[in-house]
Amino acid sequence: LRRPAADAVSRRLARAVSIDDVEAMARRRVPGAVWDYVHSGSDAEIAMARNREAFERVELRPTVFGAVATPDLTTTMLGRPAASPFVLAPTGYTRLSHHTGECAVAAAAADAGVPYTLSTYATTSIPDLAAAAPGGRNWYQLYLMRDRGVSLAHLEQARVHGYEAVMLTVDTVVTGMKRKDRRNGFAIPPELTPRTLAGLARHPGWVGGILTSEPLRFATFPEGSEHARWGVSNALREQAIRPEDIAWVKERSGLPVVVKGVLTTQDARVAVDAGADAVVLSNHGGRQLDRAPVPIELLPEVVDALGDRAEVYVDSGVRSGGDAAAALAMGARGVLVGRPYLYGLMLGGRRGVDAVLEILRSELERTMCLLGVPDVGSLGPQHVRLRGDS
Ligand code: FNR
Repeated sequence: LRRPAADAVSRRLARAVSIDDVEAMARRRVPGAVWDYVHSGSDAEIAMARNREAFERVELRPTVFGAVATPDLTTTMLGRPAASPFVLAPTGYTRLSHHTGECAVAAAAADAGVPYTLSTYATTSIPDLAAAAPGGRNWYQLYLMRDRGVSLAHLEQARVHGYEAVMLTVDTVVTGMKRKDRRNGFAIPPELTPRTLAGLARHPGWVGGILTSEPLRFATFPEGSEHARWGVSNALREQAIRPEDIAWVKERSGLPVVVKGVLTTQDARVAVDAGADAVVLSNHGGRQLDRAPVPIELLPEVVDALGDRAEVYVDSGVRSGGDAAAALAMGARGVLVGRPYLYGLMLGGRRGVDAVLEILRSELERTMCLLGVPDVGSLGPQHVRLRGDS
């Protein structure tokens, strides 16, 4: 019997055994300007490079006499169960990576039993996303707007449509400058220039998807409104977020608040004192303040300072289950991934995101097995050392 020929997506996914493989293959699936927008860091990309260097410096130290063949990856995040300690980070304009966008990502997260975070700058609306991932654990990422009425409408929709938490991002007073976007003449929302048009011609699959789906737009805002038209414009966002705003978000949404983008122990304390239930140590994947601290390096100090007052999450540069194990051992409750799932989406739509989540899950499982830990809670500081530190 001859096996039926695998379709192109299955063939591609079968060759991708690591997130680095997915990344390398995804690059060829989308126009160069889209790739640059997703892949780039800000300014000289120093923070982005340091995020990876720091993870690579981590040594994992096994305690072999505790080993079990299939460690338990389940955990709780914000008091609710999750199948593994991964969270899908909010990313703006996700339908640029693949026309199935946010809905495909959230459905994959729901099946994998991990939370998905919808961005304020999403290309899918808050209710549509909830409908696409019934039973999923969805969180809503809030960019606070100067016009509080707009933010209030977002919080109200998030609450009504069953989102479990609000992630308030505080590191985007202005949008970081990605030099490649500037050189490419790339903007959000995208404009067609001779250069971008020339790039599109080489990617008929991507163009076909975009043309046959809903027009790309900032879908969390009412159609035709100033916010929908100008989306990421700095002037529309609140540019002076204060600790009191955390309490406001919490009170108005009635949901737990996760503050994303703190990068000092002092700011983490301020956020928790103001009512945050969790903080995400993040330098936005190296896309905002260049030369910002590296989240994983701050983690032990912040976990120590907050104790059990709040959960601590980390992102920026997580590319493997080994990276996740390192963060968990240093005290993180969970790790967020951004670009990895976008690469999966570029490569194979929903199936590409499934593949990325399975790579991360199985790598974490194998790493924990080899580290000799039976469950997530058993990972501790004894399992990590930063090479180069005394
Ligand atoms: C982001 N990120 C982000 N964060 C946020 O709070 N709101 C947003 O709208 C976006 N948009 C966005 C778009 C793209 C294309 C990327 C790559 C990232 C940051 C994101 O949530 C997360 O902090 C980083 O992606 C984590 O780093 P890694 O996993 O990409 O290295």
